[in-house]
Amino acid sequence: MKLRVLLTRKLHDFAIKELRKRYDVEINHGRIPMPKKELLLKIRNKDGLICFPYDVIDSEIIDAAKNLKAISTYSVGYDHVDIKHARKRGIVISYTPEVLTRATADLTIAIMLALLRKVTEGDNVIRQNKWKAVFGPYDFLGTDLYGKTLGIFGMGRIGKAVAKRAIGFEMNVLYNSRHKLPKSEEKNIGIRYVNLKRLFQESDIISIHVPYTKETHEIVNLQLLKRMKSTAFLINTARGKIIREKDLIFALQRKIIAGAALDVFQKEPIDKKHPLVRMKNVVLTPHIGSSTEETRRKMAEITVENLILSLSGKNPVYGVNTS
Ligand code: DGY
Repeated sequence: MKLRVLLTRKLHDFAIKELRKRYDVEINHGRIPMPKKELLLKIRNKDGLICFPYDVIDSEIIDAAKNLKAISTYSVGYDHVDIKHARKRGIVISYTPEVLTRATADLTIAIMLALLRKVTEGDNVIRQNKWKAVFGPYDFLGTDLYGKTLGIFGMGRIGKAVAKRAIGFEMNVLYNSRHKLPKSEEKNIGIRYVNLKRLFQESDIISIHVPYTKETHEIVNLQLLKRMKSTAFLINTARGKIIREKDLIFALQRKIIAGAALDVFQKEPIDKKHPLVRMKNVVLTPHIGSSTEETRRKMAEITVENLILSLSGKNPVYGVNTS
Protein backbone atom coordinates (compact mmCIF):
# COMPACT_ATOMS: atom_id res chain seq x y z
CA MET A 1 0.00 0.00 0.00
CA LYS A 2 1.19 3.51 -0.83
CA LEU A 3 2.11 5.92 1.94
CA ARG A 4 -0.29 8.82 2.39
CA VAL A 5 0.74 12.44 2.17
CA LEU A 6 -1.20 15.60 2.95
CA LEU A 7 -0.44 19.02 1.46
CA THR A 8 -2.13 21.90 3.25
CA ARG A 9 -2.01 23.80 -0.05
CA LYS A 10 -1.21 23.13 -3.69
CA LEU A 11 2.46 23.29 -4.71
CA HIS A 12 4.00 23.54 -8.22
CA ASP A 13 2.68 20.92 -10.70
CA PHE A 14 6.08 19.24 -11.10
CA ALA A 15 6.23 18.78 -7.34
CA ILE A 16 2.76 17.24 -7.15
CA LYS A 17 3.68 14.92 -10.03
CA GLU A 18 6.77 13.68 -8.18
CA LEU A 19 4.72 13.09 -5.05
CA ARG A 20 1.92 11.25 -6.91
CA LYS A 21 4.46 8.82 -8.42
CA ARG A 22 5.11 7.53 -4.91
CA TYR A 23 2.26 8.38 -2.57
CA ASP A 24 -1.44 8.76 -2.16
CA VAL A 25 -1.59 12.53 -2.20
CA GLU A 26 -4.34 14.65 -0.69
CA ILE A 27 -4.24 18.40 -1.29
CA ASN A 28 -6.27 20.98 0.57
CA HIS A 29 -8.09 23.13 -1.98
CA GLY A 30 -10.21 24.77 0.68
CA ARG A 31 -9.55 27.57 3.10
CA ILE A 32 -6.00 28.81 3.73
CA PRO A 33 -4.82 28.19 6.40
CA MET A 34 -6.67 24.91 6.73
CA PRO A 35 -9.08 25.21 9.65
CA LYS A 36 -7.75 23.24 12.62
CA LYS A 37 -10.77 20.93 12.76
CA GLU A 38 -10.21 19.93 9.16
CA LEU A 39 -6.49 19.49 9.59
CA LEU A 40 -7.08 17.28 12.64
CA LEU A 41 -9.37 15.11 10.57
CA LYS A 42 -7.24 14.91 7.42
CA ILE A 43 -3.94 14.26 9.13
CA ARG A 44 -5.20 11.24 11.08
CA ASN A 45 -4.16 8.60 8.53
CA LYS A 46 -1.24 10.43 6.88
CA ASP A 47 2.42 9.38 6.86
CA GLY A 48 3.77 12.65 5.55
CA LEU A 49 2.81 16.32 5.75
CA ILE A 50 3.81 19.27 3.57
CA CYS A 51 2.95 22.51 5.32
CA PHE A 52 3.53 26.26 5.05
CA PRO A 53 4.74 28.90 7.52
CA TYR A 54 1.22 29.92 8.56
CA ASP A 55 0.06 26.36 9.39
CA VAL A 56 0.12 25.83 13.13
CA ILE A 57 1.38 22.28 13.64
CA ASP A 58 0.99 22.05 17.40
CA SER A 59 1.00 19.11 19.80
CA GLU A 60 -2.71 18.45 19.24
CA ILE A 61 -2.22 18.08 15.48
CA ILE A 62 0.86 15.91 16.02
CA ASP A 63 -0.99 13.69 18.51
CA ALA A 64 -3.87 13.26 16.07
CA ALA A 65 -1.43 12.15 13.36
CA LYS A 66 -0.80 8.66 14.66
CA ASN A 67 1.07 7.48 11.53
CA LEU A 68 3.00 10.67 10.84
CA LYS A 69 6.68 10.10 10.06
CA ALA A 70 7.72 13.30 8.30
CA ILE A 71 6.86 16.99 8.23
CA SER A 72 8.33 19.01 5.38
CA THR A 73 7.72 22.74 5.57
CA TYR A 74 7.89 25.00 2.54
CA SER A 75 9.80 27.67 4.48
CA VAL A 76 13.04 28.46 6.22
CA GLY A 77 11.17 29.30 9.43
CA TYR A 78 9.86 26.38 11.45
CA ASP A 79 8.46 28.27 14.41
CA HIS A 80 4.96 27.07 13.41
CA VAL A 81 5.85 23.43 14.17
CA ASP A 82 6.07 22.10 17.73
CA ILE A 83 9.53 20.67 17.10
CA LYS A 84 9.98 19.25 20.60
CA HIS A 85 6.75 17.33 20.46
CA ALA A 86 7.38 16.05 16.96
CA ARG A 87 10.87 14.93 17.92
CA LYS A 88 9.50 12.97 20.86
CA ARG A 89 7.35 11.11 18.37
CA GLY A 90 10.38 10.48 16.14
CA ILE A 91 8.91 12.56 13.32
CA VAL A 92 11.52 13.93 10.92
CA ILE A 93 11.14 17.66 10.34
CA SER A 94 12.68 19.36 7.33
CA TYR A 95 12.76 22.88 5.92
CA THR A 96 14.14 25.00 3.05
CA PRO A 97 17.03 27.24 4.13
CA GLU A 98 19.84 28.50 1.81
CA VAL A 99 17.78 28.59 -1.41
CA LEU A 100 15.84 31.63 -0.23
CA THR A 101 18.72 33.56 1.35
CA ARG A 102 19.44 35.83 -1.62
CA ALA A 103 15.80 36.50 -2.46
CA THR A 104 15.03 37.48 1.13
CA ALA A 105 18.14 39.65 1.40
CA ASP A 106 17.19 41.33 -1.89
CA LEU A 107 13.70 42.11 -0.61
CA THR A 108 15.17 43.53 2.59
CA ILE A 109 17.23 45.97 0.53
CA ALA A 110 14.26 46.64 -1.77
CA ILE A 111 11.92 47.72 1.04
CA MET A 112 14.75 49.59 2.78
CA LEU A 113 15.30 51.63 -0.40
CA ALA A 114 11.56 52.01 -0.99
CA LEU A 115 11.22 53.48 2.51
CA LEU A 116 14.31 55.67 2.55
CA ARG A 117 13.76 56.97 -1.00
CA LYS A 118 9.96 57.27 -0.72
CA VAL A 119 9.42 54.98 -3.71
CA THR A 120 5.93 53.80 -2.76
CA GLU A 121 4.94 57.30 -1.64
CA GLY A 122 5.96 58.70 -5.04
CA ASP A 123 4.18 55.89 -6.87
CA ASN A 124 0.98 56.66 -4.93
CA VAL A 125 1.19 60.36 -5.69
CA ILE A 126 1.32 59.66 -9.43
CA ARG A 127 -1.47 57.08 -9.35
CA GLN A 128 -3.69 59.48 -7.42
CA ASN A 129 -2.96 62.22 -9.93
CA LYS A 130 -1.37 64.39 -7.25
CA TRP A 131 1.96 65.06 -8.99
CA LYS A 132 1.52 68.72 -9.84
CA ALA A 133 4.87 70.53 -9.76
CA VAL A 134 8.03 69.05 -11.21
CA PHE A 135 11.45 68.66 -9.51
CA GLY A 136 10.92 70.83 -6.42
CA PRO A 137 14.17 71.13 -4.42
CA TYR A 138 12.31 69.98 -1.30
CA ASP A 139 9.99 67.40 -2.86
CA PHE A 140 10.08 63.77 -1.73
CA LEU A 141 13.32 64.18 0.14
CA GLY A 142 14.57 60.79 1.16
CA THR A 143 17.65 59.59 3.01
CA ASP A 144 20.93 58.33 1.53
CA LEU A 145 22.01 54.77 2.24
CA TYR A 146 25.61 55.83 1.62
CA GLY A 147 27.54 56.33 4.84
CA LYS A 148 24.66 55.23 7.08
CA THR A 149 24.98 52.57 9.77
CA LEU A 150 22.92 49.44 9.28
CA GLY A 151 22.33 47.40 12.43
CA ILE A 152 21.61 43.77 11.63
CA PHE A 153 19.85 41.85 14.37
CA GLY A 154 20.55 38.18 13.64
CA MET A 155 23.69 37.32 11.68
CA GLY A 156 22.65 34.00 10.15
CA ARG A 157 22.58 33.24 6.43
CA ILE A 158 20.11 36.01 5.57
CA GLY A 159 21.74 38.54 7.91
CA LYS A 160 25.10 37.94 6.22
CA ALA A 161 23.59 38.29 2.74
CA VAL A 162 22.01 41.60 3.77
CA ALA A 163 25.35 42.76 5.21
CA LYS A 164 27.14 42.02 1.93
CA ARG A 165 24.55 43.94 -0.05
CA ALA A 166 24.64 46.88 2.38
CA ILE A 167 28.41 47.07 2.07
CA GLY A 168 27.87 47.32 -1.69
CA PHE A 169 25.84 50.46 -0.94
CA GLU A 170 28.83 51.78 1.10
CA MET A 171 27.04 51.47 4.44
CA ASN A 172 28.69 50.64 7.77
CA VAL A 173 27.38 47.43 9.25
CA LEU A 174 27.00 46.57 12.94
CA TYR A 175 25.39 43.38 14.15
CA ASN A 176 24.08 41.54 17.14
CA SER A 177 23.43 37.83 17.13
CA ARG A 178 23.09 34.86 19.46
CA HIS A 179 26.55 33.81 18.35
CA LYS A 180 29.34 36.26 17.71
CA LEU A 181 31.13 35.36 14.47
CA PRO A 182 34.85 34.50 14.46
CA LYS A 183 37.02 37.63 14.05
CA SER A 184 38.23 36.44 10.65
CA GLU A 185 34.66 36.15 9.34
CA GLU A 186 33.71 39.57 10.76
CA LYS A 187 36.73 41.03 9.00
CA ASN A 188 35.97 39.20 5.82
CA ILE A 189 32.40 40.53 5.59
CA GLY A 190 33.33 43.91 7.10
CA ILE A 191 31.01 43.94 10.12
CA ARG A 192 31.36 44.69 13.84
CA TYR A 193 29.60 43.03 16.81
CA VAL A 194 27.85 45.21 19.43
CA ASN A 195 25.36 44.40 22.18
CA LEU A 196 21.64 44.74 21.44
CA LYS A 197 21.23 48.10 23.18
CA ARG A 198 24.12 49.63 21.29
CA LEU A 199 22.85 48.16 18.05
CA PHE A 200 19.55 49.98 18.45
CA GLN A 201 21.23 53.15 19.73
CA GLU A 202 23.91 53.52 17.08
CA SER A 203 22.18 52.38 13.89
CA ASP A 204 20.42 54.54 11.32
CA ILE A 205 18.54 51.50 10.10
CA ILE A 206 17.80 48.30 12.02
CA SER A 207 17.05 45.15 10.04
CA ILE A 208 15.69 42.06 11.79
CA HIS A 209 16.92 38.60 10.79
CA VAL A 210 16.59 36.47 13.93
CA PRO A 211 14.35 33.39 13.96
CA TYR A 212 11.11 33.63 15.90
CA THR A 213 11.48 31.75 19.21
CA LYS A 214 10.32 32.08 22.84
CA GLU A 215 13.38 34.30 23.38
CA THR A 216 12.72 36.62 20.43
CA HIS A 217 8.95 36.90 20.98
CA GLU A 218 8.23 40.68 20.93
CA ILE A 219 11.87 41.35 21.80
CA VAL A 220 11.66 44.58 19.80
CA ASN A 221 9.49 46.54 22.23
CA LEU A 222 9.09 50.19 23.18
CA GLN A 223 12.14 50.05 25.44
CA LEU A 224 14.35 49.09 22.49
CA LEU A 225 12.57 51.37 20.05
CA LYS A 226 13.17 54.30 22.41
CA ARG A 227 16.90 53.63 22.12
CA MET A 228 16.75 54.29 18.37
CA LYS A 229 17.54 57.68 16.85
CA SER A 230 14.44 59.69 15.96
CA THR A 231 15.78 59.66 12.37
CA ALA A 232 16.19 55.87 12.32
CA PHE A 233 14.19 53.24 10.42
CA LEU A 234 13.16 49.68 11.27
CA ILE A 235 13.01 46.87 8.68
CA ASN A 236 11.49 43.44 9.30
CA THR A 237 11.54 40.56 6.82
CA ALA A 238 11.81 37.85 9.51
CA ARG A 239 8.66 37.23 11.57
CA GLY A 240 5.98 39.67 12.72
CA LYS A 241 5.86 38.50 16.31
CA ILE A 242 9.48 39.52 16.90
CA ILE A 243 8.19 43.11 17.11
CA ARG A 244 5.62 44.24 19.68
CA GLU A 245 3.44 45.78 16.98
CA LYS A 246 1.50 47.96 19.44
CA ASP A 247 4.77 49.54 20.53
CA LEU A 248 5.94 50.05 16.97
CA ILE A 249 2.71 51.85 16.08
CA PHE A 250 3.16 54.06 19.15
CA ALA A 251 6.79 54.78 18.22
CA LEU A 252 5.81 55.69 14.65
CA GLN A 253 2.87 57.85 15.71
CA ARG A 254 4.97 59.72 18.31
CA LYS A 255 7.90 60.04 15.89
CA ILE A 256 10.17 58.15 18.26
CA ILE A 257 11.50 56.58 15.06
CA ALA A 258 11.28 57.88 11.48
CA GLY A 259 9.70 54.94 9.68
CA ALA A 260 9.40 51.22 9.12
CA ALA A 261 9.37 48.76 6.23
CA LEU A 262 7.63 45.52 7.03
CA ASP A 263 7.14 42.29 5.10
CA VAL A 264 5.78 40.36 8.09
CA PHE A 265 3.14 41.08 10.71
CA GLN A 266 1.68 39.76 13.95
CA LYS A 267 -1.41 38.66 12.02
CA GLU A 268 -1.25 37.87 8.30
CA PRO A 269 -2.90 38.95 6.09
CA ILE A 270 -2.87 42.33 7.86
CA ASP A 271 -6.30 43.93 8.29
CA LYS A 272 -7.07 46.82 5.93
CA LYS A 273 -8.06 48.89 8.97
CA HIS A 274 -4.76 48.22 10.75
CA PRO A 275 -3.13 51.51 11.87
CA LEU A 276 0.07 50.65 9.95
CA VAL A 277 -1.88 50.65 6.68
CA ARG A 278 -2.75 54.31 7.11
CA MET A 279 0.78 55.51 7.93
CA LYS A 280 2.79 57.42 5.35
CA ASN A 281 6.19 56.68 6.87
CA VAL A 282 5.68 52.94 6.45
CA VAL A 283 6.28 50.56 3.54
CA LEU A 284 4.32 47.30 3.60
CA THR A 285 4.70 44.12 1.56
CA PRO A 286 2.65 40.91 1.92
CA HIS A 287 5.23 38.38 3.27
CA ILE A 288 7.09 38.01 -0.04
CA GLY A 289 10.69 37.65 1.18
CA SER A 290 11.28 34.44 -0.79
CA SER A 291 8.80 35.16 -3.54
CA THR A 292 10.67 34.94 -6.86
CA GLU A 293 9.99 32.44 -9.65
CA GLU A 294 13.40 30.87 -9.20
CA THR A 295 13.41 30.70 -5.41
CA ARG A 296 9.88 29.41 -4.95
CA ARG A 297 10.56 26.67 -7.53
CA LYS A 298 13.72 25.63 -5.69
CA MET A 299 11.80 25.66 -2.42
CA ALA A 300 9.22 23.31 -3.95
CA GLU A 301 11.99 20.98 -5.20
CA ILE A 302 13.59 20.83 -1.76
CA THR A 303 10.29 20.45 0.08
CA VAL A 304 9.50 17.38 -2.02
CA GLU A 305 13.03 15.96 -1.84
CA ASN A 306 13.05 16.45 1.93
CA LEU A 307 9.78 14.56 2.28
CA ILE A 308 10.78 11.71 -0.04
CA LEU A 309 14.10 11.21 1.77
CA SER A 310 12.46 11.39 5.21
CA LEU A 311 9.73 8.91 4.28
CA SER A 312 12.30 6.47 2.92
CA GLY A 313 14.20 6.52 6.21
CA LYS A 314 17.06 8.71 4.96
CA ASN A 315 18.24 12.09 6.16
CA PRO A 316 16.45 14.95 4.41
CA VAL A 317 18.52 17.55 2.56
CA TYR A 318 17.75 20.07 5.33
CA GLY A 319 16.56 18.41 8.49
CA VAL A 320 15.63 20.37 11.60
CA ASN A 321 16.50 17.47 13.85
CA THR A 322 19.46 16.13 11.90
CA SER A 323 21.42 19.29 11.08
C1 DGY B 1 10.08 31.46 5.35
O1 DGY B 1 10.45 30.66 4.48
O2 DGY B 1 10.04 31.16 6.53
C2 DGY B 1 9.72 32.82 4.89
O3 DGY B 1 9.04 33.52 5.85
C3 DGY B 1 8.98 32.79 3.61
O4 DGY B 1 9.20 33.97 2.89
